Amino acid sequence: MPVETTRPRTIWRSRDAETVEIIDQTRLPAALETRRLESLEDAAAAIRTMQVRGAPLIGVTAAYGVAMGLAESNDDATLAHVIRTLAATRPTGRDLFTVLDKMRLTLVGFPPAERKAAAWRMADELAEECVNKCRAIGRNGAELIERIANTKKEGPVNVLTHCNAGWLACVEWGTALAPVYVAAERGCNVHVWVGETRPRNQGAALTCWELKAGGIPHTLTVDSATGHLMSEGRVDIAITGADRVLRDGTVCNKIGTYMKALAAHDNGVPFYVAIPESTVDRVTHPGSGAIPIEERDEEEVLRASGRNASGSHASIAVAPPATTAFNPAFDVTPPNLVRGLVTEAGVGPATEDGIVALFGPACEGQPE
Ligand code: MRU
Repeated sequence: MPVETTRPRTIWRSRDAETVEIIDQTRLPAALETRRLESLEDAAAAIRTMQVRGAPLIGVTAAYGVAMGLAESNDDATLAHVIRTLAATRPTGRDLFTVLDKMRLTLVGFPPAERKAAAWRMADELAEECVNKCRAIGRNGAELIERIANTKKEGPVNVLTHCNAGWLACVEWGTALAPVYVAAERGCNVHVWVGETRPRNQGAALTCWELKAGGIPHTLTVDSATGHLMSEGRVDIAITGADRVLRDGTVCNKIGTYMKALAAHDNGVPFYVAIPESTVDRVTHPGSGAIPIEERDEEEVLRASGRNASGSHASIAVAPPATTAFNPAFDVTPPNLVRGLVTEAGVGPATEDGIVALFGPACEGQPE
């Protein structure tokens, strides 16, 4: 498993078979365990149960899921079934649909007998592309951090982030955390404020785990401490990832992002969103209710889980019995609260013109 290397990966091809291995993120931070995915059903379940999560990694896992789904049969009906199965796993992140659209449109052009090999090739390419794009996001975003470092008289550059948009959410590097890793590698003194990201605690469990592994100084806070930190001048820059960005720069990301963006706006803290092009949705018309927001089990809110003193998994109720809870997994941040998008193509404004300047005009007939 390539976790001992300086830049670990979250998904990789098995050495001997047409299967893939993943880090099971539901086991972190308690244990670093890997799972082998051997079929379409395994890939779909890994996405649905959040063994893999984060928009770019969901996309890459789905690409391998398509390849594994064509193992037995490769006709048009099988391809349609495979795409449908993976598309039904999680509704909000755009990368899943970007990848599935790309694979469907490409694979129908191959004779059925060649589709499986083409799908494996495409999945490998998409994984490499994800790594390269995240590395470029890191380089472009590091310049923002370094600019702040150059103007600060003392202390580290304090970066605030939300959820996990590090290498665990991608194949390598990450989106929001890639600039932090690159800046630190270049010798910049950087410290990360990590919001815990209730209810699933991706910040506490995953971001703290990967920053610790990467030797990056960091401090965990409850999500509601953000406004206080900013009002006290203890945040220099906020960088989050996104699950979907609409063509006008509207950002959909993990629940709680909007509140962080509001607090940043009110306190003059620059709020950046780091994304690869695959997260941009040029089709959906911006507006209220435009983005499908995943609603998850109320149990995630009604209970808290972690490890007890003996190190085993424990789940405890945090509300009285029979309480009902509402659990939207994502929220929508309007573009006026976003200082800029950090992408593989550079840093630009979160506007329609800005997105066109970064990635070019939308292709005619880009599929939904
Ligand atoms: O529900 P999750 O853990 O898949 O949500 C992940 C996020 O919201 C990330 O911030 C987003 O996908 C960007 S990851 C590079």
